[in-house]
Amino acid sequence: MLIALLPGDGIGPEVITQAKRVLDAVGLDGLIYEEAPVGGAAYKASGHPLPSETLDLAKRADAILFGAVGDPDCDALERHLRPEQAILGLRKELELFANLRPATLFPELAGASALRPEIATQIDLMIVRELNGDVYFGEKGMRKTADGKREGYDIMSYNEDEVRRIAHVGFKTAMARDQRLCSVDKANVLETSQLWRDVVIEVASEYPDIQLSHMYVDNCAMQLVRNPGQFDVIVTGNLFGDILSDQASMCAGSIGMLPSASLDSGGKGLYEPIHGSAPDIAGQGKANPLATILSAAMMLRYSLSMAEAADQIEAAVASALAAGARSADLGGTMSTSDMGDAVIAALASAG
Ligand code: NAI
Ligand code: MG
Repeated sequence: MLIALLPGDGIGPEVITQAKRVLDAVGLDGLIYEEAPVGGAAYKASGHPLPSETLDLAKRADAILFGAVGDPDCDALERHLRPEQAILGLRKELELFANLRPATLFPELAGASALRPEIATQIDLMIVRELNGDVYFGEKGMRKTADGKREGYDIMSYNEDEVRRIAHVGFKTAMARDQRLCSVDKANVLETSQLWRDVVIEVASEYPDIQLSHMYVDNCAMQLVRNPGQFDVIVTGNLFGDILSDQASMCAGSIGMLPSASLDSGGKGLYEPIHGSAPDIAGQGKANPLATILSAAMMLRYSLSMAEAADQIEAAVASALAAGARSADLGGTMSTSDMGDAVIAALASAG
């Protein structure tokens, strides 16, 4: 199995270094790593944020572990040369259409959540967001109305194949968890949502063990704050998923805790922390590497069929936190490599 390591810039290389140390400490057979520059680091080396050798490696690899991109030195560049184009380019070129974002609160961090601790500790959900369609990719433009007023428009559309393939990811994700899937739409108002709901119901017949429910997106936003413990897996479109996943992430205590996966239809995926390159703390050893370490665990589970090793890493992160490991974002003083050490020590003591 070939793993592409794409550290990127800012704190990306710092957090990827720790994730690689943890993967090495788990001692997995048959994994080969190849590293390539991406984002600002690649621009500075070769004049392009996603060089063709990096894209080739990403295409050849079985999975990609990505740090972050967003070097402020590149802020003045034209849009197509900006570091952020690298992640957008990878998602598009590799057809990564399914974005998985877990929202889980480690009980030790309950005090850091935006929700009351007794509500926050119930959160253990996964949002499956469609990533290649919806209003972001429809026809868009600016025009003048007959009476000369400016009018902007963005067409929202989904076809049934797009809905079907993300619905399958939703059901399969629920199979691997608590067997409950909530499909979120706005079927009382939108035609795209009516199609979404019809197709999800069709696909449900292939997954008789899954308890399927439907919820309107406005109600879902409310329920995520009122009673998040009711959700296991949520499947939704690109726009609704963008908003709901950011909302759900606020329960986890810190942006430095949250992993993500972006998957294609064959099981290949790109795994990355949800945070960016954090230029304000880059190079200072302050970054929390746990989001990237948890992204590596997702990679083992979803692309490499190594669920047991993924469980080991997640358990080691929980033990390290229980033992008091805290980087600055969690209110502590530990450095990026101290946090990596703490997870590796927890792995060792779990035997
Ligand atoms: P950011 O996520 O980089 O930082 C937001 C705040 O959270 C900062 O105060 C930062 O210090 C803190 N933070 C982030 N990750 C942390 C960690 N692991 N440990 C401790 N503290 C952490 O978002 P921001 O500042 O809006 O963007 C910075 C750059 O990153 C921009 O160029 C943006 O475009 C890019 N970006 C890249 C992403 C990616 O590579 N997928 C995703 C989001 C932003
Ligand atoms: Mg967002």
